[in-house]
Order: sequence, then structure tokens, then C-alpha cells
Amino acid sequence: MENIKSYVQQHKDRFINELIELLKIPSVSADTAYSQDVIDTAEAVKESLSKAGCDYVETCDTPGYPIIYGEKIIDPNLPTVLVYGHYDVQPPDPLELWTSPPFEPVIKNTDIHPEGAIFARGACDDKGQMYMHVKALEYMVQNNVLPCNVKFMIEGEEEVGSASLAWFVERNQEKLKNDVILISDTGMISNQQPSITTGLRGLSYVEVEITGPNRDLHSGLYGGAVANPINILAKMIASLHDEDNHITIPGFYDKVQELSAEERAEMAKAPFSLEKYKNALNIADVYGEKGYVTNERNSIRPTLDVNGIWGGYTGEGAKTVIASKAYAKISMRLVPNQDWHEITELFTKHFTSIAPAGVTVKVTPHHGGQGYVTPIDSIGYQAANKAYTETFGVPAIPVRSGGSIPIVALFEKELKSKTILMGFGLDSDAIHSPNEHFGIFNYLKGIETIPLFYKYFVELSK
Ligand code: BES
Ligand code: MN
Ligand code: MN
Repeated sequence: MENIKSYVQQHKDRFINELIELLKIPSVSADTAYSQDVIDTAEAVKESLSKAGCDYVETCDTPGYPIIYGEKIIDPNLPTVLVYGHYDVQPPDPLELWTSPPFEPVIKNTDIHPEGAIFARGACDDKGQMYMHVKALEYMVQNNVLPCNVKFMIEGEEEVGSASLAWFVERNQEKLKNDVILISDTGMISNQQPSITTGLRGLSYVEVEITGPNRDLHSGLYGGAVANPINILAKMIASLHDEDNHITIPGFYDKVQELSAEERAEMAKAPFSLEKYKNALNIADVYGEKGYVTNERNSIRPTLDVNGIWGGYTGEGAKTVIASKAYAKISMRLVPNQDWHEITELFTKHFTSIAPAGVTVKVTPHHGGQGYVTPIDSIGYQAANKAYTETFGVPAIPVRSGGSIPIVALFEKELKSKTILMGFGLDSDAIHSPNEHFGIFNYLKGIETIPLFYKYFVELSK
């Protein structure tokens, strides 16, 4: 398959321009103001799949946004790869921090991406990474080297919890039957050192509401005499970690699997510079759970973080007021074996129990999902590693990621197949942040590497 390199060289401008067109559509799933754009993006993905060589494509209606399904079945006796990705993106705000508008993609050079990177919301997460698979299919079909069957399932609600995808997967097990699931929606260590994600954290996301007096009060007339919901909320949140940064919710760690000393030593071999990490974030020091290093804190350990907190007066100037209500959005990242429903329950029970008389607590669960780990001795992992070794010149390192793709655990449960996470993004690509970007090098390397995965997966399956 020497051909792929030259095919990419020959067509790279078109590959980049096609992605840029896709990035112009603001497919923000969290905000209904963009709902027509989300639907338009689905149609654009569908068209790209049929142009790239799928024999059958379909817009699958769901209770939410549509799922685009595509397939090319060349021989039912050959293995089938199921590609998953998402065409929805995170909201672009805060807009004022973007150096160019989020839905007007431009190519700019950065220190890490001297060959240029496409700046736009969704460039890396996940339109750019999803589209690598469409272009890899185009190459394989055009050059008659597709070695097996392929199915695509591209959804539009990943960034809001994938509720419709869960609904769809439960109802379409036969249609989605496969031998391996392939996803590019994660990252790798660096452009010199590829890695394969072998773990994802689970998630429980809740919103809390603290109610004190039945109306906002004058903070002079009532201050000191009634519970201030904002003060109370701050205190309650602060108490969720102890002085060693362990989470204090009873039972929270009960099911956490501790890694063996060998496994932790293996993890420590991945290249990592604490100095560079701190410099990139402009922080004087890191912060986290006692007894664990940074790369453990953000992957194999569970966390609890406030994602947003509000209440009272936040406008210009000063208003003397004790608010009636205070709110926070809290995420808990979970590790394999922790059950997200159970954790949500433990949180709710504990958080309600620590509130003083004088306020009431309401906890509303948003979404969540189970964590995931995959062994490195599977055919899928071996095939991916061979593919990376060929295109990068060095083998990939297995890495457990701190991020979550809750649907991966559901795939395993419903479809009984393993997922291989071949991510080509970098941590510095600013996903979910202003100025998200995706390296041209990464995009083209992804298109080059994916067909090799197919080749080796079929070879190793024989
Ligand atoms: N692609 C990310 C997840 C990711 C990124 C995993 C980088 C590993 C490395 C995905 O789109 C995402 O943002 N997931 C959400 C969870 C979802 C339920 C909203 C997350 O991790 O916050
Ligand atoms: Mn994603
Ligand atoms: Mn995301």
C-alpha cells in the first residue's frame, strides 16, 4: 500500500478544503438555536460518505438529531470494521477569546504545528478526525484496496451525552454487527510519538440547586441571620475534598481498581515533562490527589470538579443582596468499575446530607456513562500498532486518557465488540476551548495510517 502516501500528497489540498467546508457549518448540539445547522451537517456527512464510496447511506431518524449510517459490504465472509465519529461540536463561547471566528476556518502555523493547523470549532473534536476516515475510505475504494467490509455510524449528540445513539444502538444490533469498532476522537502524545488510547474515564454530571429564603434579601437587614445559599454552596463544595485532595463522599472509592506497581511503572515510561506541562498552562505548580503523579491524576484516578457556579448579583457595580438560590454544575470523572448511576446516587445522598437546616438541596443528574479499558493483546490493538509503526517510524505507546466517550462502554455491552481508539489530536489542540485547531500533519497522517489499520486487521484476523 505504498500508494497511500502519494495519494495523500496528490489530493491534500482538496482534503483540506473539504474539511474546511464542513467546519463552516456551526453544528452546536447543546444550543437549539443551531438545530438547522446540526441537521445540515448530518446531510453534508451523508453526501461525503456516498461520494467516498459507500454503497448505501442512510439518514437514521432518532428522538434527537439524526445518525448518519453508511456501508460498503464487499464480502459477508470478510471482517467488518465499524467506524464511529460525531459531527456535532461544543459551543464556541467565549467568542472574544478566539483569534479568528470559530466557524470561519483558517490555517495558521503554531510552534507545535509548523506545517500549519486548521483553526475552527470542531477541527479536532471531532469533524477533522471523523473526516480522516471518510478520506481513507475514498483512497481504499478508488485504489481497489479496501480489504474488508466497512460501516460508518456518525452521530450528532456526542457533546450532549449521546442519548439518541444509545437508543439507536439498542434497536439496530444486527445492522451494526461488526468485528471491531474504530474511533478517532482522542489524542496522542506528540507528533513524534504516537499513542493508542487504552482507557477512557466514565462520567457523572449533575447540577445542584441550593435554596435559602423564599426571596432575595437585603444583605444588611438579613445578613448574618439567615443561611446565605451562596456561602453554603461554597462551603459544601469545599468539603467534597479533604486536605489530601481525596474525595470525601462515603463509598466513592469503593469500586476503584488500584493499579499494580508494575502497571504504574509502565505508565511512568510514557514521555512527559512536568516543566513543559506547567509552562504550557502558565501555572506555578500542579495540584491534585496526594500519592499520585500528574499522569495518574488525570487518567487512572476519579475526580470531582465544579464546571460552573452562579447565583446572586454578577452585574456591573455592587448590589447588596442575599440571593434566594445558588447553583453549580459538577462533573465526576470515573474510572472503570465505578458505576455512574451508583456514584450519582452516592453524591446526591451525601450532598443532601451535608446541607445545614435553613437551606434545601436539589440535585439534578444530567448525563453520564461508564469508563472503559481495553487490553493491548487484541488483534485490533496489534493492527493499530503496526499501522502507526509504519507511518511514524516508532511503535505506539498505550495510554489511558482522562476524557470520556461514554458510548464506548455501551458498544461493548450491546454490540459485544472492542473499540480501538486511534486518536490523532494533541492536548494542545484546545478542544472545547477558544482557538481549537487540528494540525495539517495530524490530519494527513491520520488519513495515511487508517488504511494500514484495515490491512493489518484483516491479515491478523485470518
Ligand atoms: N472527544 C472527546 C473526548 C476525549 C477527548 C477523550 C480527548 C479523550 C481525549 C469527546 O467529544 C468529549 O468531549 N467527551 C465529553 C463527554 C461527553 C459525555 C460530553 C468529555 O470528555 O467531557
Ligand atoms: Mn469528541
Ligand atoms: Mn468533545
